[in-house]
Amino acid sequence: MAEPVIIDCDPGHDDALALLLAVGDPRLRLLGVTTVAGNQTLDKTTRNAQKILALAGAHDVPVAAGADRPLVNELTVAADIHGESGLDGPDLDVPVPVPVGVHAVELLRKLITEAESPVTLIALGPLTNVALLLRTFPEVTANLRRIVFMGGSTTRGNSTPYGEFNMVTDPEAADIVLRAPIPLTMIGLNVTHLALATDEIIAELRAISPICAELMTFFADAYRRNFGFPHPPLHDPVAVAYVLDQTIVPTVRAPISVELTGVYTRGATVVDLHHRTGRPDNADVAVDLDVNAFWTVLLNAIRQNPIGNPA
Ligand code: RIB
Ligand code: CA
Repeated sequence: MAEPVIIDCDPGHDDALALLLAVGDPRLRLLGVTTVAGNQTLDKTTRNAQKILALAGAHDVPVAAGADRPLVNELTVAADIHGESGLDGPDLDVPVPVPVGVHAVELLRKLITEAESPVTLIALGPLTNVALLLRTFPEVTANLRRIVFMGGSTTRGNSTPYGEFNMVTDPEAADIVLRAPIPLTMIGLNVTHLALATDEIIAELRAISPICAELMTFFADAYRRNFGFPHPPLHDPVAVAYVLDQTIVPTVRAPISVELTGVYTRGATVVDLHHRTGRPDNADVAVDLDVNAFWTVLLNAIRQNPIGNPA
């Protein structure tokens, strides 16, 4: 039976392909999508999530907007990476419905508590909505199988030298989630930087879905300009691939803390891989990626449900 999942996201080019993976692979049943401010402002991330779902024909998947800013920080968007719309590149002119008239936290509570089997929550943006959910409706953990989040790193960061964007945007939310009594998996930059959309991958995408190829071409230019990457790392779909098949993303158990007070390191995930601190393990931490298996799963899912007109 397909695994029930909910995706909380901030589309975002990589969030967009993660949504397509979840919609296209029959092993998952996408119960709903919630959006958060991060890569762009909440109105833009919400509209982008709706556009991708509409293009994928996933008209039955409810979308609810959540937090329009982090718990404490001011919002700093990533327009340098995702553009002013949050999904720059192709013209995504598709009609979208009004989002469901409840806050993301209410939709999450409803979908989780009413699900027939425990739900996996996949968080692909700052953890603001997830933290608000856990604090507002702690009872949801009774029917929450696990939280799998793209964020953090066992090595260096991207938003700051040691901070990854989702964690740096809302460190307090990350701290709340990392302390929650719920199975957690961290899919960090140390692994997602292995998921590089090479020219060959983008060429394969172009044959399946020109729109996805245009999204990746913009993303590639942005990563080349900002980080000197020859090819862009596709962060968020790695978290969905892990839920589909854990062998694609090997993990180890480790204690993770998030730095809240470091002048230069606020938002850094401190992962005690060698258990030097005596802190208890609180998460599974991604440490590797089966790159071929990852791209096979992603390209097959998009092939199942190509958005836009294949060439
Ligand atoms: O650091 C990468 C993460 O931050 C990805 O989820 C990307 O979409 C942004 O949200
Ligand atoms: Ca994201």
